[in-house]
Amino acid sequence: MNPKPPFPAPQRFPKDFVWGVATSAFQIEGAATADGKGPSIWDRFCQQPGAIADASNGDVACDHYHRWPADLDLIQNLGVDAYRFSISWPRVQASGHGAFNAAGLDFYERIVDGLLERGIRPYLTLNHWDLPQALQDEGGWANRSTVQRFVDYACAIDRRLGRRVAAITTHNEPWVMAVLGHETGLFAPGQKSRATAMQAAHHLLLSHGLALQALRAQGCSSRLGIVLNLSPIRAATDSPADQAQARLEDGRAVRWYMDPLFKGQYPEDVWQHLGADAPQVQAGDLAAISTPMDFLGVNYYTRSVVSADGSWDVKNSGKALTDMGWEVYPEGLTELLVRLHRDWPLPALYVKENGAAFKDEFVPGSAGQPGRVHDVARTDYIARHISAVADALAQGVPMAGYMVWSLLDNFEWASGYEKRFGIVHVDYATQQRTLKDSALWYRDFLQVQKSAR
Ligand code: NOJ
Repeated sequence: MNPKPPFPAPQRFPKDFVWGVATSAFQIEGAATADGKGPSIWDRFCQQPGAIADASNGDVACDHYHRWPADLDLIQNLGVDAYRFSISWPRVQASGHGAFNAAGLDFYERIVDGLLERGIRPYLTLNHWDLPQALQDEGGWANRSTVQRFVDYACAIDRRLGRRVAAITTHNEPWVMAVLGHETGLFAPGQKSRATAMQAAHHLLLSHGLALQALRAQGCSSRLGIVLNLSPIRAATDSPADQAQARLEDGRAVRWYMDPLFKGQYPEDVWQHLGADAPQVQAGDLAAISTPMDFLGVNYYTRSVVSADGSWDVKNSGKALTDMGWEVYPEGLTELLVRLHRDWPLPALYVKENGAAFKDEFVPGSAGQPGRVHDVARTDYIARHISAVADALAQGVPMAGYMVWSLLDNFEWASGYEKRFGIVHVDYATQQRTLKDSALWYRDFLQVQKSAR
């Protein structure tokens, strides 16, 4: 493997292409009860024995709540155009109802102003999974009343910050919240019912569409969209059973979200398959869900290969695996982007997350020199996926930006702190940040990009 992958050529990207790094609130902020913050479903889920691999929680995480100025300096030093972060809903409205918490809103205002002062465009996400626990106690995303709560929250954030942020994403990865949160129970709130999951997915989509309408009605000037986790889903063999399984999985994970958002309908084959587990949908819901967006964000990490009997194993593919056990498959990103562009009428398209967990070795510095992390595999992963985006552009896909997941090592949900996705290493004992070689590579790459603008 090349220890320092070559830079994809600048002329392969439009001059206004947006380069960024991404994080989310629960994964980095800590300060779980500070300044009037209420508990989220992830605070509660972390208390369940066995829910988190290393029995950790988000109480301290990267302590970003207190260290944000230095973290924003780090982001600036990387030379990115944009920083994608999320708002913790229970930090700005503890119970998801009623009055907003001034201290919480002030915190995000400092982040937004701090980014603008440093010449970085804020890309704000409203819901990166940390629903107020008080709303979960009323049924959470499976309860239709949460839709209006979310719309009110979205409008409050826009009134306070909207003029200063470049983009507002309603939800991050609704499939994950719905299915991992409500069907497999691997993520908060840890429920295990397919019907509940499908109802939650519907309410997430509905709240997205209604929030867009409400934000535009109050004059919101930010660009509005949603971020989906998508990947190509292939059959392990040509057998009709494997092909049918792949089509169904594609329906459940890709078309179930893309079709209502961009065609105003749920895919008929999946609807039939769900039977009694299909969601309750009211008149007008699909028209609201398909409210036009300014952008679609895609999070891409790997592909899926499925077989009817579940026998396909990524270890058989011959490709490298990340520390999550995910196959390194950059060509799948090109394939996915080309397919999205072909099958749906898309607005501007961004990769809003891409990156990899690997086992890093921290090499301490000496004589005043900073430590190093020679994360060759992560650097290679990022370089190859950026090239995959360039390949999609070459095939006519109107790509508008790319963001690395993640700025910092952080709380990787049910995997706790064991999996490290950062291009910046975090020593959790001291909260010391150290740029990994992947961060140095990305910084140099961005410099080459910028000098060609
Ligand atoms: C997508 C999620 O949005 C993010 O929170 C998570 O850390 C990454 N995937 C890696 O699993």
